[in-house]
Amino acid sequence: MIAASDYDALLRSLPQSDFEIAKTDIQYLVNCAYQMSAFAGLHPLDAELTLGEALSRLARSSCDRQPGIEVLSYEDMILTNPLQNDPRVYCLGAAGVEERDFCLGHQIIESELQSAMDALLNLRDVAEVDAGQCLTLCLERLESANYVLTRFHEHMSPDLFGQFRVFYGKNPYKNTLGPSGRFSARIVAVSVLLVGEELFHQKPQFYSDLYRLSEYYPQRCIHEVFRWLSSDKESASSKPGWLEGKADFPRVATISPVVEHHGGEIETLRASCICALDRFTRMHRSTALKYTVEPGRPIVGVEVSENVEAVLSQRLLTEALR
Ligand code: HEM
Repeated sequence: MIAASDYDALLRSLPQSDFEIAKTDIQYLVNCAYQMSAFAGLHPLDAELTLGEALSRLARSSCDRQPGIEVLSYEDMILTNPLQNDPRVYCLGAAGVEERDFCLGHQIIESELQSAMDALLNLRDVAEVDAGQCLTLCLERLESANYVLTRFHEHMSPDLFGQFRVFYGKNPYKNTLGPSGRFSARIVAVSVLLVGEELFHQKPQFYSDLYRLSEYYPQRCIHEVFRWLSSDKESASSKPGWLEGKADFPRVATISPVVEHHGGEIETLRASCICALDRFTRMHRSTALKYTVEPGRPIVGVEVSENVEAVLSQRLLTEALR
């Protein structure tokens, strides 16, 4: 079907919002072809034949137009998947409904994180803004994200989760990671804004991983975070000097200087936001254990050389800080 028409030209000419959906479709198809080939035990060459030259070329063109990792990404699955009205999913029936709701839950949490991030950016960057209002808004959005995540934890069916999860594994023929919440750029942005400096001192690995795995994240948002963290002299996407001990951590990337300037009640509000983010990370950790790690389902966003527990705790600060 794809070979019969000039979809390359069409892809290049689509308006951005249609292009994003088309890219999601292409990556869903490509991922499906690889996963099915692996289930059937195909040799890598046969898997490439199954995929076909035309689809493979289309996948390359979609990544040329929008750089990022060349396999199904978190952005394809959650952010540009039209879940509200025409969801892209692999399963039929009850498993398909659960699959859609899993993605929708992530999308809702992403939108809460976006609002939390906007409020923190206002506080950091806009003079004479009402600091209390910004932090209260951030706190409300984080609490709402916690509420949605808790519903996941309580109500998602482990059996149905297991049925759709198999399609979202690592690419079995390429040395790449799968679409994982690990690659949410907004949770990174909120963490950097709220506790960026403490994270650097206690969990420098969090930052090393971020630069090492940067291709997997939604590119626009992660590059914005890298811009905050780089000095004028450095290229924003290369590993910054402070991460190698050559400079001090850029505190101006975080809300800490503004919060210290206000003191008192504003510091208390920031502590409440940190506490809410921390509760999110802990609730997430037990959800990941309940649905994935303990039942032995595929871990998609962690490399073989990494430890899952360490990744799930990578943004947790030690108690001493509270
Ligand atoms: C039922 C829901 C969820 C399950 C079962 C789950 C499972 C996992 C697992 C197993 C990992 C380890 C890497 C991997 O294999 O993917 C992980 C990492 C991660 N996930 Fe989720 N996840 C869920 C929901 C979410 C949501 C809604 C978010 C927020 C956008 C999220 C954000 C993250 C982050 C940021 C990491 C890296 C560890 C961290 O920084 O805390 N996850 N998740």
